[in-house]
Order: sequence, then structure tokens, then C-alpha cells
Amino acid sequence: MNIEQLSKRLETVALSIPTGSKIADIGSDHAYLPCFAVKKGIAESAIAGEVAEGPFLSAEKQVKAACLEDKIKVRLGNGLEVISPGEVDCITIAGMGGALIATILEDGKEKLQGVRRLILQPNVSAKSIRVWLLQNEWELTNEEIIEEDGKVYEILTADRGEPLRPYPGVEGHQKALLLGPFLMQQKNEAFQRKWRQECAQWKNILSNMEKAEQSEALNERKAELMNNIQFVEEVLSE
Ligand SMILES: C[S@@+](CC[C@H](N)C(=O)[O-])C[C@H]1O[C@@H](n2cnc3c(N)ncnc32)[C@H](O)[C@@H]1O
Repeated sequence: MNIEQLSKRLETVALSIPTGSKIADIGSDHAYLPCFAVKKGIAESAIAGEVAEGPFLSAEKQVKAACLEDKIKVRLGNGLEVISPGEVDCITIAGMGGALIATILEDGKEKLQGVRRLILQPNVSAKSIRVWLLQNEWELTNEEIIEEDGKVYEILTADRGEPLRPYPGVEGHQKALLLGPFLMQQKNEAFQRKWRQECAQWKNILSNMEKAEQSEALNERKAELMNNIQFVEEVLSE
């Protein structure tokens, strides 16, 4: 891939990096994002972290091909274990599930010292990330939702600050954790498409659940799905 032509998804992540940052891109795969950010002068330096050997080798190859070895270090390791406290001031994690991203942040908490911005792009379950941010003194400061090649992606930016600031009163809280406090205000086309599809899937799951043997766990899941459907339908019809 030519790093001048980054995917719209990764470019949206890159454009949220404050100019002059020292970044760590965790789960970097081919290191396209750090190569782009450094080449464009957005990031001053970067660490590309990878847990798997194949993607780690691809990242090394890409950094070498771009002649960026002096500015981008490629490291093999799990989550934030590839960085030292104070080494970077911005972390990007893209293209994984929200629950995995939240686990990486939770397990590497002590490495977040000196980090001022997190840019996170979950493929599913952005809610897990919003909950983690809220519980860990990070303020969600921006959200974007984009569509590329028929898929919808959410990009969440968080800074040190006041975690509750983006959330409305307690009543609207759960709804905003699911849908995104910024995204549910904007309700752009990608947002509407994503949540209409999710709702249709949940309704399908619910009707299959009716045919299954009833249990407490099943009833809890049903109640959760019905709540989510109600939240989504309320927001889409407002
Ligand atoms: C689907 S790729 C996304 C690559 C790139 N960030 C992007 O958005 O295009 C996910 C990458 O994350 C890596 N990964 C998964 N869990 C990880 C972890 N705990 N620490 C570091 N890398 C991880 C995988 O090996 C894989 O290369």
C-alpha cells in the first residue's frame, strides 16, 4: 500500500493526532498509520507495537521501505508493554473490538503516564471504550463516524479532563454510552445506517430467543436488547 493513500478510516484517526506528538500505534499491523503520520509531519516520532510476528515483520518492512527507521521504532509485544511510562504522549489503537481495546488500556494503565490523547477506532462495541474512559478519568472530546467500502467505523478521541462532561443527565447516560454523546447529536447518514442495521439484527436475535428454552441469563440478554432497541428508536425518531 502507498502510505500517501491511507484508508479514510486510518486517515481520520491520523488527523486527530496533535501536531508534533510522539505516538504509539498499538496493533499497528503494516505500520501504515505511523508511517503516514510521521511522513506528513503530524507526528514527530512513533512506536509501532504488534503482538503477532507476521504483522510485526510487515511493519518493519514498511518502515524500512519508507526510510523512516530513525523516527519509527517497531516493537513486538502485547498491548502497552511495548512502551515505557512517559515515552509517548498520544496513543492510537485501531481496527480491533472495543472490548479488546479497553482491556489493552486497562492492562497497561501504568504506561499512560504522560499520555495526553487517546484515539481509538473500535470495529464493534464502542460502548466498552466509553465505559472504560468514564471510569478512568478520560474525557471523550470528539467522535466521528464514517463509512468506507460499505462498512461503518467510529473514531473516538479522549483527553485528560472531566469524564462526565460529554454526557447528559443520569437519565440519558446509558443511551449516550451506547450511541455516543457526540454522534447521537449529529445523527449523520453513517450513524443512521449503522443503528438501523443493528436494530434489525437485535430484533432477529430476539425473535430467535423466543423459540429457545427460557432461562434467567436469556431473559437478562432479552431485556438488554429491548432496552437498546428502545434507545436507538428514540434517538432515530427525535
Ligand atoms: C485488524 S488489525 C488492525 C491493524 C491496524 N491498526 C488498522 O487499523 O488497520 C489488528 C492488529 O492488532 C494486533 N493486535 C491484537 N491484539 C493486540 C495486542 N494485545 N497488542 C498488540 N497488538 C495486537 C493484531 O496482531 C493485528 O495485527
